Amino acid sequence: MLLHHAAWPEVDAYLKQCKGIIIPIGSTEQHGPNGLIGTDALCPEIIATEAGDESGFLVGPTFNVGIAQHHLGFAGSMTLRPSTMIAALNDWIESLTRHGFDRIYFLNGHGGNIATIGAAFAEYYASYSLDAAACPVQLKQRNWWELPGVMDLSRELFPVGEGMHATASEVSVTYYAYPGAIKSVEMSPKIAPVGSFTDAADYRRTFPDGRIGSDPSQATPEKGQRLVDTAKRALISELTGFFGTKPSALAAE
Ligand code: NI
Repeated sequence: MLLHHAAWPEVDAYLKQCKGIIIPIGSTEQHGPNGLIGTDALCPEIIATEAGDESGFLVGPTFNVGIAQHHLGFAGSMTLRPSTMIAALNDWIESLTRHGFDRIYFLNGHGGNIATIGAAFAEYYASYSLDAAACPVQLKQRNWWELPGVMDLSRELFPVGEGMHATASEVSVTYYAYPGAIKSVEMSPKIAPVGSFTDAADYRRTFPDGRIGSDPSQATPEKGQRLVDTAKRALISELTGFFGTKPSALAAE
């Protein structure tokens, strides 16, 4: 169930069965010459939505602009400052906990968000710790590509040119969900350079077309579907443990 497609009495009823919610979280940033700018937000959204449809677990709105200052040298990229994101995430968390949600699972699609999501969680827990109060809420972040089975499948599908940014796997996931947005582009060089970066100007200089280490021209919808199926199964299993509710309890509703 999607929170934004539910009416409030349905959310009330859900909370009597389960106090967990999934929040897809990502970024709006360039993904090379053939990757969608929304890739990092779309991948967790696609996987969470399919998992929510199958299991009945509630999926909230996607937090779709993250830490992407280093991508601002490419048209269309957007960023939050880390301080803004920490504050915004705490407002999202407190809105949900006010209604009784006590397990909030952030399914992340962007490596650049990891540290700031962790800082946002520390900010939330600090208010309890400083008051010497026990926090009844548990927050969790998980990168979709680290769900059990996903990396093994990526290695099998793309033994060469998976890469670190604008990966063949993430582009495949978006091509599966949005076949109308597929772009056919010749990659030059075939596999992008690897290395480190600091700000947007440094990134653009080091990685001229935006990719890091990848050849996303290998991406196909069929491969994306296999990745989504694997990630979805692993996600439902992980949520069942974290939320402490079996999907069958929700299906019986
Ligand atoms: Ni990405």
